Amino acid sequence: MSYFAELKKSAEYVRSLLKEQPEIGVVLGSGLGDFAELLEERLAIPYAEIPGFPVSTVKGHKGNLVFGKVYGKKVAVMQGRFHLYEGYPVERVVFGVRTLGLLGVKVMVITNAAGGISENLRPGDLMVIKDHINMAGENPAAGEETPELGPRFFDMTYAYDGELRERAQRAFEEAGLEYKEGVYAFMRGPSYETPAEIRMLKTIGADAVGMSTVPEVIAARQMGIRVLGISCITNMAAGILEKPLSHAEVLDVSERVKGKFVEVLGRIISEI
Ligand code: HPA
Repeated sequence: MSYFAELKKSAEYVRSLLKEQPEIGVVLGSGLGDFAELLEERLAIPYAEIPGFPVSTVKGHKGNLVFGKVYGKKVAVMQGRFHLYEGYPVERVVFGVRTLGLLGVKVMVITNAAGGISENLRPGDLMVIKDHINMAGENPAAGEETPELGPRFFDMTYAYDGELRERAQRAFEEAGLEYKEGVYAFMRGPSYETPAEIRMLKTIGADAVGMSTVPEVIAARQMGIRVLGISCITNMAAGILEKPLSHAEVLDVSERVKGKFVEVLGRIISEI
């Protein structure tokens, strides 16, 4: 079966279980799975039941596509995502986002955990992504041309939608949170970066670094979906502080920040 046929099958399966078409897609990063519990009129579909869907292997990532309402908005939430570092090919990493695109989602809010590079960031901060740098050498739009998924060559100048960022800023202000924006650098992982790599990323203009989001954003933009990206800064990147990085720290900080992240995410969705 072709990749596009697999995607269509996935979307058809999910559509057959839904009463209403979702408007807004949400991808939840590490530790944010709880957001999906807030949905009203909830329907959770385990990834394992959806044809073609990979199953997430990362601790702290559940594997459900959850549909429901938040502030009256019809949302589709990916509770758990797929990463290049899990060994999936890039087209499988974006399978969920493309399924949501085929279901008719027009806006996606994509979240992640990231290491802070800029001195304006501290662990526990939320950073709205204004642009990205793809350092992984992978692009989900590469390969056979599939017009149904969008054009081969497409603009990335406005990948992180200005109007959505303004709405996010309002939501941050209402929640009493300082609004920060920055450039997200995508590394393949799963090893964290070296201090020399972080110095390089800082030099080329990155404010934060992580191992997700960019393939999803590219796939979404190819389909014409508007994107808002938000990073939870869980640690300072390698070499910025005199200490080693640990996944335990990343999980610990995302656990602490979860409450405010879930709150602001709800407010943002109410504004979209
Ligand atoms: N580097 C890459 N990915 C990450 C980090 C980091 O420091 N923190 C959380 N995800």
